[in-house]
Parts: sequence; structure tokens; C-alpha cells
Amino acid sequence: MLAMNKFRILGTIVIVIAASIVVTSCKDKRSTGWEYAPNMYEHIAYDPDQKNNNFKDGKTAQVPPAGTIPVGFVKFDYPNTKDGYELASVEVKTVLAQTQANYKDGKILFEHFCSPCHGLSGQGDGLVVQHGYPPPPSYSKGQSSRGGAMKDLTDGKIYHTITYGVNAMGSYASQLAPEERWKVIMYVHHLQTL
Ligand code: HEC
Repeated sequence: MLAMNKFRILGTIVIVIAASIVVTSCKDKRSTGWEYAPNMYEHIAYDPDQKNNNFKDGKTAQVPPAGTIPVGFVKFDYPNTKDGYELASVEVKTVLAQTQANYKDGKILFEHFCSPCHGLSGQGDGLVVQHGYPPPPSYSKGQSSRGGAMKDLTDGKIYHTITYGVNAMGSYASQLAPEERWKVIMYVHHLQTL
């Protein structure tokens, strides 16, 4: 008899605990429950997607004022047009130190990013070309689709091409930082002499 009672009491306690967990956990669907170190979630700073009465449009994420650039961003003010390409050719010159170390970096970058199409020696016979991709002209013997011999391509023209791409070649602006582009260009100049 006593044993039965013990089980009943135990059973009742278990049910009460279980029920209270169910009831309290479902009380507020938006509640995150107990939070450890809540100021990690509810911090003082505004979240980008949060309402913000400090600004006229009531948003935290503001569009940067016109003409502003991120810290360290190098501007290239030549549009993606034939005129922009020709102007860059005259005005844009490398400021990279012409050292062995930069040349070596340029070679590695070229082999990673450019040689699949242009080929290791810049003859336009890279691996993807061997599989049917439209071949780029040889850097040393070909003709540019925008006029002139490939071997005469200037700093500015190559920089413009890497930045914007041309026809079947995409832009490499998001893969190569400006300094890396100049390193690649140093190596392309070498390939133009082959
Ligand atoms: C997906 C293949 C592909 C890759 C990768 C590629 N190119 Fe090209 N590139 C081409 C093709 C195709 C052309 C010819 C486009 C045209 O003139 O119609 C070209 C043309 C060029 C030209 C000549 C532009 C001109 O003014 O005529 C230069 C310079 C050049 N590429 C440099 C590079 C460099 C540097 C890289 C690496 C950062 C690179 N390319 C990566 C396919 C590629």
C-alpha cells in the first residue's frame, strides 16, 4: 500500500514538472527562453536591420554619401567603354616597384587566374581553350580585338581589361586587389616579349 502511494506521489511530481515545462516553454512564442549573458544578444549598438529614429528614414543601415569610398579602396575612374580604355592607356601607369619579388608574385597570380585561358606562356592555349573555350590572342604575336598588337598593350589597357573584362573574358576586379593586378601586369609584360 505504501509502495503504491510512493509511486503515485512520484508519478504526480513527474507529471507536474513535465506540465510546467510544457506550459512555461509555450507561453510566449517569441521568447528565446533563458539566455546566457543576454547582453550578447540585446546589445546597446544598433543592428543594421533595426529601426532607428536618429535617421530621417528610420533605418539603421544608411546609404553612404555619394562619392565616399571604403578605407584603402583604390579608385579607377575610367568607365567600361572604348574611350575609358583608351584614356586609361594614356593616363594610367604602374606605381609598383619593378622588383624580382613582385615579378615572382605576378607569375604565381597569372598562373592561377589567367593561364587557364591565356596559357602558361601567354599564347592563348590554356587548358580550357583546349576544351573548346574561345582562345584569347597570343600576348606576343596576336592582335587585340580593340585594335593594335597585343605586344603593344600598355599598363592602362591591361589594367582596364583585368578590372572590367572584355567579351569572353570576365572581370577579375573581385579576385585581384589593385596591387595584385599590377603584379600580374608586370608578368604579362614579360609574356609580351616571348
Ligand atoms: C576565361 C578565360 C580567360 C581568363 C581566365 C582570362 N582571360 Fe584574358 N582574355 C580572354 C579572352 C577570350 C580574350 C580576348 C577577348 C576579346 O578581345 O574578344 C582575353 C583578352 C585579354 C587581354 C587583351 C585585351 C585587349 O585589350 O585586347 C588581356 C590583356 C588579358 N586578356 C589579360 C588577362 C589577365 C591578366 C588575366 C588574369 C587575371 C586574364 N586575362 C584571364 C580570356 C580569358
